[in-house]
Amino acid sequence: MTSQVGVLNFAQPARRPWLEQWLHTCRDLSALTESHPMMDAVIDEVDGRMIRVGDHWLADFASCNYLGFDLDREIIEAVPAYLDAWGTHPSWSRLLGSPVLYEQIEERLTALLGAEDSLVLPTITHIHMSVIPLLAAGGTIFLDQRAHKTIYDGCQIARSHGATVRRFRFEDPDHLDELLRAEPGAGARLVCMDGVNSMTGNAPDLQAFAAVTRRHGALLYVDDAHGFGVIGERRADETSPYGMRGNSIVRHTGEDYEGIVLVGGFSKAYSSLLAFIACPPEVKRLLKVAAPPYLYSGPSPVASLATVLAGLDVNERRGDALRAELHRLSARVVDALAGLGVRTPNHSGFPVVEIPLRDHERIDAVGRFLFERGVYVTLAAYPLVPKPEVGFRAQLTAANTDAEVDALIAAVADLAERGELQSAAEVPC
Ligand SMILES: Cc1ncc(COP(=O)(O)O)c(C=O)c1O
Repeated sequence: MTSQVGVLNFAQPARRPWLEQWLHTCRDLSALTESHPMMDAVIDEVDGRMIRVGDHWLADFASCNYLGFDLDREIIEAVPAYLDAWGTHPSWSRLLGSPVLYEQIEERLTALLGAEDSLVLPTITHIHMSVIPLLAAGGTIFLDQRAHKTIYDGCQIARSHGATVRRFRFEDPDHLDELLRAEPGAGARLVCMDGVNSMTGNAPDLQAFAAVTRRHGALLYVDDAHGFGVIGERRADETSPYGMRGNSIVRHTGEDYEGIVLVGGFSKAYSSLLAFIACPPEVKRLLKVAAPPYLYSGPSPVASLATVLAGLDVNERRGDALRAELHRLSARVVDALAGLGVRTPNHSGFPVVEIPLRDHERIDAVGRFLFERGVYVTLAAYPLVPKPEVGFRAQLTAANTDAEVDALIAAVADLAERGELQSAAEVPC
């Protein structure tokens, strides 16, 4: 018989105060996930960008498949040949060995980015947790106050390895400058921030941040999870203001990689489980012997490597047309909000459009309204975002239809009419 000593009894709430404490901290979100049809949903079926949850069909504006590669026949049909050649999963850690597909991806990716070199690992989270502590090297990290949680967590690990973390104000290169000046030091100095922001949908002034970082001899580490595949180099013949080739924020802003390490992922625009770090070859050599996910973690499934390679082909031939369509659909939404006088932080026209509520406590009711109207979005509840920014986020993809966008705009117009949304004239507190 198993001893009960040390075994948690989940039937007795009084005996799990740690759990109660966590649930209390996350109570707004926890109440929503337990009861709300648009949180933690089970999706039964997809048909294009329409999804079925139970007996409800909804237009999906919550996926990050910006280029629509998840539904692209050419990419889907490329997968079986890779499975025939490689099986379903390599299952070596990369230190032991990697299918040649990895070499092919890194070579093509490096060329697309115009970087010196690149290394791919399964996810951006793996990269932040392992690479930030290495690059910080027990020195000082200057962290964007609104950086993505996974960057923040990577910095916490670096802190446990002896690094100091200072936080600079969001979108404020002058504040970064001040902090760097106040802490000259001879040790490593790493600046960590987002590229295209996952909530505002805007890009930072990368040129300004790069100039400050270089001036102080620090290294700039940028996570462009939402920009890679969507924005790219500007050209006279570009098909939209997103630029061409989707080769990310460094190229989009006309920067080079001097003093910049770029991190991005294929799990959004390329619909594949893989991520990358673009860095100089000597940093890559270090990561291949010192970054735990390279040494110890399992690799991405072959199907994901296949969809990355097929995605790179499609990006070359049709990517710019898809980006033009993505821009057109996103502009329809952003322009409609402007016409309705509804506030959104998005001033870039990029496909991440957050719409804050007038009253954060209305999140449950507004989410249910959208669900009933057949519109599926990401609910941004407290504490995921600060209370004045509680609202919902719509992400456009090239696979959305105009009819789906019409449904989104009509639902937002009704919410505005009911006084649920902030006015564009209001300054958020
Ligand atoms: C800015 C940003 N960084 C990192 C991640 C996590 O990426 P991954 O799933 O590759 O770990 C996300 C996911 O939403 C993100 O938005």
